[in-house]
Amino acid sequence: MRVKIVEVAPRDGLQNEKESLDFKDKAHFIKLLVEAGHKDIEVGAFVNPEKIPQMASSGQVIGELQGIKRVNFWALVPNLKGYESATKSRVSQIAIFTAASETFNQKNINTSINGSFERFKEFVPHAKKNKIKIRGYVSTCFGCPYEGKVNPKAVLKVTERLLDMGVHEISIGDTIGVATPYQVRDLTKMLLKIMGPKKLALHFHDTRGTALANIVMGLESGLSIFDSSSGGLGGCPYAPGAAGNVSTEDLLYMLQGMGVRTGIDLNKQVAASLFIQEKLGHELSSRYLKSKY
Ligand code: HMG
Ligand code: MG
Repeated sequence: MRVKIVEVAPRDGLQNEKESLDFKDKAHFIKLLVEAGHKDIEVGAFVNPEKIPQMASSGQVIGELQGIKRVNFWALVPNLKGYESATKSRVSQIAIFTAASETFNQKNINTSINGSFERFKEFVPHAKKNKIKIRGYVSTCFGCPYEGKVNPKAVLKVTERLLDMGVHEISIGDTIGVATPYQVRDLTKMLLKIMGPKKLALHFHDTRGTALANIVMGLESGLSIFDSSSGGLGGCPYAPGAAGNVSTEDLLYMLQGMGVRTGIDLNKQVAASLFIQEKLGHELSSRYLKSKY
């Protein structure tokens, strides 16, 4: 069995750090991830720099990556302005993002769920025409930091709308890390009625330590795309208190032990995570990185 890992630390990870790293350090980190074997890396976001200053250098980061072949470098794009900056940076993969709950969406991107789709309409057709691959994120699929429980039907509805727009892949986000395995099984089953497993990714934050168990349930449910983050970095400034994404090292260790192939070298992944740990100047949460034996 083989799975695809989408490495999100340079975006989801670094957006949540107090300090903004120099773009050359970010680019070096991404190059170490490429050396480790990653083929899908989320490298930045073209969002309002007043809101997420850590991502302000995304264009420069992408500039440093030109010439690297056969790797999908993804960047978050919320609106036409972001799309214009992304295309100027010659990004060929973009991720649009919305949520299953209204309040989170409003706080995160300053519009309603409907409003986010109105914005997508302004650039998604152009992206498709130009053969730019599009990933669609649905946040707060298992719980919202402001509204609490989220109805799976709301997730289904937003997912259907993204599919109607023609996105290539959908990532189901547990933004605040509340999901448990049977919820994952049930939601996956519902979603697989409207889409194929090759388009469906799971994105777990690990606030309550259930992320790896949820991924095993995703695998058992027939899925093979999982988002993870070097060192367990991550979080969203609009989901205060949520932990980082499931750590890439912990995930690789588990998958290797299960005989699941990823194409990523665990030792080289550790080297990339240790590099970014040193640059950030604090210990990362990954259990594998901390393990001694
Ligand atoms: P807005 O706040 O509605 O702003 O933007 P506006 O349209 O009223 O414009 C305000 C200012 O922002 C203007 O500048 C615009 O030009 C500028 P001013 O005239 O005041 O100088 N602006 C931009 N600048 C650069 N790039 C842009 C852009 N758009 C407007 N694209 C917007 C809406 C979405 C941009 C804003 O609310 C924003 O940046 N929010 C932050 C969103 C974000 O990055 N959140 C974190 C990522 S999502 C996440 O982490 C979840 C995920 O990991 C999955 C999961 O875990 O669930 C993906
Ligand atoms: Mg996230």
